[in-house]
Amino acid sequence: MAILIGDTAPDFTLDSTEGPIHFYDYIEGFWAVLFSHPKNFTPVCTTELGYTAKLKDEFEKRGVKVLGLSVDKLEDHAGWAKDIEETQGAALNFPLLADTNGEVARQYDMIHPNADNSLTVRSVFVIGPDKKVKLKIEYPASTGRNFDEVLRVIDSLQLTAKHQVATPVNWKNGEDVIIVPAVSNEAAREKYPEGWKELKPYLRIVPQPRA
Ligand code: BEZ
Repeated sequence: MAILIGDTAPDFTLDSTEGPIHFYDYIEGFWAVLFSHPKNFTPVCTTELGYTAKLKDEFEKRGVKVLGLSVDKLEDHAGWAKDIEETQGAALNFPLLADTNGEVARQYDMIHPNADNSLTVRSVFVIGPDKKVKLKIEYPASTGRNFDEVLRVIDSLQLTAKHQVATPVNWKNGEDVIIVPAVSNEAAREKYPEGWKELKPYLRIVPQPRA
């Protein structure tokens, strides 16, 4: 069965570049990004992992733990990590999981047999502190992902969790947001005593809440 948004993220234990990781223990109390990459020593993956390492402070600021996963062997991860540092200017600073028998990849539907029978596609799962899947995206092997977009979605998800707001098309952190339809005008008046811009009764715009 596919893992869908709203589902509980499956737990697992795997070896990683930072030692054995029990997923639930590792992410306890945090948000998590679990992403698969097809193969070590490949060009697109090398750029993705280097860039993700450069975003360390951004993930930390948001209380997010990052984990990469491939079906390659742990021994190969270490050699490749050197190449990532050399070519991308950033050393790996998050665990790379070695899912050598592909069990976790299959559980998370990261292997799409009609694309490749054994390698993972580029999946990203954002998982909340409640262990529920909040975002799921999938790219083919030939297209590097946009990890700035992953951060943008995390900003939106965290605002929704904290303030019951949604974010409009192409929203960026700091821009106006939308009061979710589940919040009545009466409840909204308490939260936003300065009011909101009402384009339609279901389309109520407020400045992005701070704090
Ligand atoms: C890459 O990372 O460049 C790549 C990996 C697997 C298939 C194709 C490209």
